[in-house]
Amino acid sequence: MFSKTGASLLPELFEHSVNFIMSSPSANSELIFYINGKKIVENNADPEEMLLAYLRRKVGLTGTKYGCGGGGCGACTVMVSRYEPLEDTVLHWSVNACLQPICSLHGAAVVTVEGIGSTKTKLHPVQERIAKAHGSQCGFCTPGMVMSMYTLLRNNPQPTMEYIREALGGNLCRCTGYRPIIDGFKTFCDVPTCCQNGEKNRQCCMENGNSHNQESDISGELFSTDNFLPLDPTQDLIFPPELLLLAKKKDVGQLCFQGEKVKWIASKDLKDLIKLKAEYPNAPLLVGNTTLGPKMNLKGMVHPVVIYGGNIQELRTIKWRNNSVTVGAGCNLSVLKDTLLQGIEELGPERSRIYQALVQILKCLAGKQIRNMATIGGNIMSANPKYDLSSILAAVECTLHIVSNDGTREICLNEEFFTGFGKTALRPDEILLAIDIPHSKPWEFVSTFRQALRREFAFSIVNTGMRVVFRHDSNVVEHLDIFYGGVGPTLVKARHTCTQLTGRPWDEKILAEGTQLLEEEISIPASAPGGQEEYRKALVLSFFFKFYMQVLLELREREVGVSNLPLEYLSALKPFKNEVPQGNFSYQLVSEAQSTSDPVGRPNVHQTALQQATGEAVYYDDIPSVTGELFVSMVTSTRAHAKIISIDASGALAMPGVVNFISAKDVPGQNRRLWFNNPEELFAEEEVICVGQIIGAIVAQTREQAKRAAEQVAITYQDIQPVFFTIEEAIEHQSFFDPKRKLERGNVEEGFEIADHILEGEMYMGGQEHFYMETQGVIAIPKGDAGELDLYVASQHAAYTQEVVGITLALDSNKITCHVKRLGGAFGGKVMKIASLSAIAATAAYKTGRAVRCVLDRGDDMLITSGRHPFLGKYKVGYKNDGTILAADITYYSNGGCTLDESSFIMEKALLHMDNGYKIPNLRGRGLVCKTYLPSYTAFRGFGGPQGLTIIESVLHEVAIKCGLPAHQVRDINMYKDEKCYTHHKQLFSPHDMVRCWTECLKKSDYDQRLLYIQQFNAHNHWKKRGISIVPLKFGIGFSKGFYNQGAALVNIYKDGSVLVSHGGTEMGQGINTKAIQIASRILKIPMSSIHIKETCTGNVPNAAPSAASFGTDAVGMAVKNACENLMTRLEPLIKKHPQHTWQQLVVEAYCQKISLSSTGFFMGPHTSVDWEKSEGPAYYYFTFGACCSEVEIDCLTGDHKNIRTNIVMDVGRSINPALDVGQVEGGFVQGIGLYTIEKLHFSPEGVLLTRGPSQYKIPSLCDIPPQLNVHLLANADNPHAIYSSKGIGEPPVFFGCTVFFAIKEAIAAARRERGLTDSFSLSSPATAEKIRMACEDCFTSMVPQDKVKSKPWAIKV
Ligand SMILES: Cc1cc2nc3c(=O)[nH]c(=O)nc-3n(C[C@H](O)[C@H](O)[C@H](O)COP(=O)(O)OP(=O)(O)OC[C@H]3O[C@@H](n4cnc5c(N)ncnc54)[C@H](O)[C@@H]3O)c2cc1C
Ligand code: FES
Ligand code: FES
Repeated sequence: MFSKTGASLLPELFEHSVNFIMSSPSANSELIFYINGKKIVENNADPEEMLLAYLRRKVGLTGTKYGCGGGGCGACTVMVSRYEPLEDTVLHWSVNACLQPICSLHGAAVVTVEGIGSTKTKLHPVQERIAKAHGSQCGFCTPGMVMSMYTLLRNNPQPTMEYIREALGGNLCRCTGYRPIIDGFKTFCDVPTCCQNGEKNRQCCMENGNSHNQESDISGELFSTDNFLPLDPTQDLIFPPELLLLAKKKDVGQLCFQGEKVKWIASKDLKDLIKLKAEYPNAPLLVGNTTLGPKMNLKGMVHPVVIYGGNIQELRTIKWRNNSVTVGAGCNLSVLKDTLLQGIEELGPERSRIYQALVQILKCLAGKQIRNMATIGGNIMSANPKYDLSSILAAVECTLHIVSNDGTREICLNEEFFTGFGKTALRPDEILLAIDIPHSKPWEFVSTFRQALRREFAFSIVNTGMRVVFRHDSNVVEHLDIFYGGVGPTLVKARHTCTQLTGRPWDEKILAEGTQLLEEEISIPASAPGGQEEYRKALVLSFFFKFYMQVLLELREREVGVSNLPLEYLSALKPFKNEVPQGNFSYQLVSEAQSTSDPVGRPNVHQTALQQATGEAVYYDDIPSVTGELFVSMVTSTRAHAKIISIDASGALAMPGVVNFISAKDVPGQNRRLWFNNPEELFAEEEVICVGQIIGAIVAQTREQAKRAAEQVAITYQDIQPVFFTIEEAIEHQSFFDPKRKLERGNVEEGFEIADHILEGEMYMGGQEHFYMETQGVIAIPKGDAGELDLYVASQHAAYTQEVVGITLALDSNKITCHVKRLGGAFGGKVMKIASLSAIAATAAYKTGRAVRCVLDRGDDMLITSGRHPFLGKYKVGYKNDGTILAADITYYSNGGCTLDESSFIMEKALLHMDNGYKIPNLRGRGLVCKTYLPSYTAFRGFGGPQGLTIIESVLHEVAIKCGLPAHQVRDINMYKDEKCYTHHKQLFSPHDMVRCWTECLKKSDYDQRLLYIQQFNAHNHWKKRGISIVPLKFGIGFSKGFYNQGAALVNIYKDGSVLVSHGGTEMGQGINTKAIQIASRILKIPMSSIHIKETCTGNVPNAAPSAASFGTDAVGMAVKNACENLMTRLEPLIKKHPQHTWQQLVVEAYCQKISLSSTGFFMGPHTSVDWEKSEGPAYYYFTFGACCSEVEIDCLTGDHKNIRTNIVMDVGRSINPALDVGQVEGGFVQGIGLYTIEKLHFSPEGVLLTRGPSQYKIPSLCDIPPQLNVHLLANADNPHAIYSSKGIGEPPVFFGCTVFFAIKEAIAAARRERGLTDSFSLSSPATAEKIRMACEDCFTSMVPQDKVKSKPWAIKV
């Protein structure tokens, strides 16, 4: 197989290849690098230490954030600059600090978010613009975004939008929906960008002057660019001259760093590297660390010796030759892409086909930071079939240049090169030096395809490289190569198929036979890791079809052998264009009569956006450690239902740094967290009831020690029956929590009797992971005084945390103070479980008498804290021929997991929303929470609302299909329209504004026109289909548990006139503090800058309700208003007496007159309640309304989809802050896109969560945002119930994501109709690529056996 060609590439290297004596230095070298212009000399560099931990813990630069530790989120982005001798220039790279070993930084300059600007000195324009454009909500992703953009500007001060898109592709944001970030950054482009609304004959709004804002009091501007700081390169740190000298030094020796467990050797040159590899054949050759790093960080893999090859010039050399380009194996993928792009330009289309295909793949492979680090050699040598490059490089017969101490040799890259998962045919002492990628030849055609969970920044499910060579001037196949990755443990060549098809003309017969042969040749077992075997099989065939079409097109251009080519079939080839989201928004301006100094109703920037953008904003884990601080790591169950037989922590306790192991017996008070009389154990005592349940915790000196030791605690179990995980199984076992709820209006049976038709069906909706960017955690600090304890905690419900900790420690609440400065996102996930984690950390602090920090890593966070409930709705509906629904009977089942948590309230909310905006006269809903052996599901933005609403929308959708009517017509006909209406729980409301939203949304989305256009599009495109869907929304605001509807605040005025506001809400990005300050500013009549909010603290405002139910601003705002009004009442006489006094003079006068300058404020909200026996009661304070319309396009062959356009009209009453409200709408909607399309959690048949990080679980990234996401806040909307006529907005927009789901369903239906399948079909949420593809049944899916008896599946539907 191998051809040994001698040392043709580097003959000079081998002159002294024998008889060398290894001289690995034993002493530690000095590691020299710079951070933000300051020299760092590290004498004890630890090879295991990544830059992220080093920055945060050793240097104290906490602006760079931890989000995942595996390169999957971008929160840790920093810029690394290096002198590149090959180009004699300094190059700047955005990189993921979590994967950058500090030892690789010798000679490099690191710049972090703190190094580019600050609020104390001067902001960098990138920081200013993201903040002022409202691109920072919780702010946890912001430093990473800033650094990605900053690096781009360092390399290219006037980037195009495409560059910006590319630069941010590796940064996730869970709050904003990305549009405002792009809006801020696009101000750096010199070319104004079009709003993209000018399709067809209509003009762009930039030409016709903001077309959608014709009313004079409507604005489409949320920030002004007028005073933006200009980009000033002199502000940038220069590359340290000392590092230039260091880099140019010729005789650099080996560098060696010895850590506790790992030795790092950086070779001085290639010769040295070869020697090292000979001496340490089992040591990995670390270059970009993007394969090795995640394994070390996330799986605890340790290599005793690591050889670093990132500094070897020969590995980075690129050489263009007559018929190929030789790329050094150490070239990173960004360089590779730029090189190939250059080649494409120079070689022209025919000779560069291979490079074009590679560039196409490189554009969506990982994110920019990973591409800057990852190397082509590492990609090949990782031998991971999900990696994309090997299939195409093998198909085009690349040559690999290998070096070792024995000389050099060349190998052809093919399937035999990969000998197993992670294994290649290279000997351990060999090094991949370079890869020869050929130019394409005249009759050679190459294609590559991939399909991933998300279009960009995601590993492929299946990838392929295909190449065909024709006999000159003919369509006869001379040579065919088809490789697939993702269909087995190694790269697979369809050898038999290729052989059989050689010599055949490229026509329909070859297509038919090729597909058949591939079906037979490529087999994927049901238990294959990653599951989706039928889908993967369908992709195998579909990709071949795409290739066939692509080549056919080429042949047609050459006029060889192509008879007929149906034009609508060409849609198989059009790739989705990734566009930059550039939505419009509009809102009503405040009245002209309002004082200009009154900030209410204006788009003020989030109070701490600038601190967030500069990295100065402090999150709990940014707080410096206190003396003697310890770390706690959880020991969790690996069984779903078992008796705990024994726990042996002795091995763990013997490990370095370990201080203690704690479990139930160490709890001084009660080992339980109580929630409405439902107890949940903190530590499992006798029995475990899910995988991931906390059994104990290791307390150690560092987080690494704690984590490692926690894995060593030996637990023996005895499995208990039953054990089940799914809703269906729970129904079988009749395993339900109490209470079981029912709501009913009218007489459902009578309704069925008079209906023209009856339809029965079901709709399943999967769960969702919160994926807040900041993982959960707490610092518990004993104060040593009367048992006092301070907790710095990421909690949405500080009072509950305080209460639980008190019960655990048997300590009065008055000794426990919870501080919450801000949360890096929460979305309902930081209400309950964080109280348990806090109680455990507090127990550890109590036991050791020392401060204890707990920070869940991403994997543990996903495993332990769980998320949104999966729901199954089974329905029976009676309707008339015109689509009017007369009766519906729906049973909702939710998967509650192993404990009740908030599940019953969530189910109640689902039932209370089951009518949405529809006046169904006879309606019955039953709600059952299934008790299973999964981690307990909990609150998530929307709190059951989205599930309740989606299932009724699904019913309407199905009725429309059965009636042969457009879905929007059936929705319209059933809508509440009378001025006074009653919900199904007999709450009075007016749907007036809902109907306005609906009508405006129909108009703004151009619904009728778009529908026509879509019909035309679908008629002309066989393999791409579009769909559109519009839904109305009625969403209840406030807690249905009436006592929670209260708010409290404390306002202190100091003698200098400054004001400190405290309230019971928590700032988690939604802008509650900004709104509270706006309100205080209005009442006190002082500028917002004089008012400050420091933190949420149970010591200042006790017994506060959670910031949830979209009610935070309502409750807190009213309380702040009340406190400020109290103060103004006291100051009123003085104001009258001294009208000329300034505010400060007034305050001093009041002080002298012994007037209290401190006031509490309280808001007693409505007494909501539901009588479940009678099915009635005012469940909500009021309703927020809206409507949303989305248009999508699907690729029927792959299941990929593209969100094209979304219009939202939202009634937020009189917005207190339109920028924040638009942000909530967009952010909520984008979370909804995730919920309904790409976010899928996988559990193994044993109940183990398999999706434990961003590599496996995909939240929306920039590529998922509709290029046109237009949000309009309904004008002239009032709300007599809430503060300044505003409305709560946090939760409702999530549901709008379902428009994308139903639009996808419409598109699939169009595809099916064309293939003769006119009946309805089931589609559960999320509508993943797999489901879309498999629902678009066609000749390829029918070849894939779908009902085969499965052995053990890889994952189950819970
Ligand atoms: C978040 C994330 C997303 C990603 N997405 C994708 C994706 O969509 N598609 C895709 O294809 N890939 C993806 N990758 C994988 C990435 O492309 C590879 O990890 C990368 O190319 C490996 O290169 P490296 O230099 O970082 O290798 P390292 O991690 O440094 O090394 C990896 C392995 O290769 C060996 N090795 C490296 N260079 C040589 C050499 N010259 N000779 C011999 N052995 C060598 C090492 O010994 C080691 O075993 C992703 C990675 C991450 C972290
Ligand atoms: S923390 Fe580094 S990419 Fe997520
Ligand atoms: S602002 Fe982006 S994650 Fe919160």
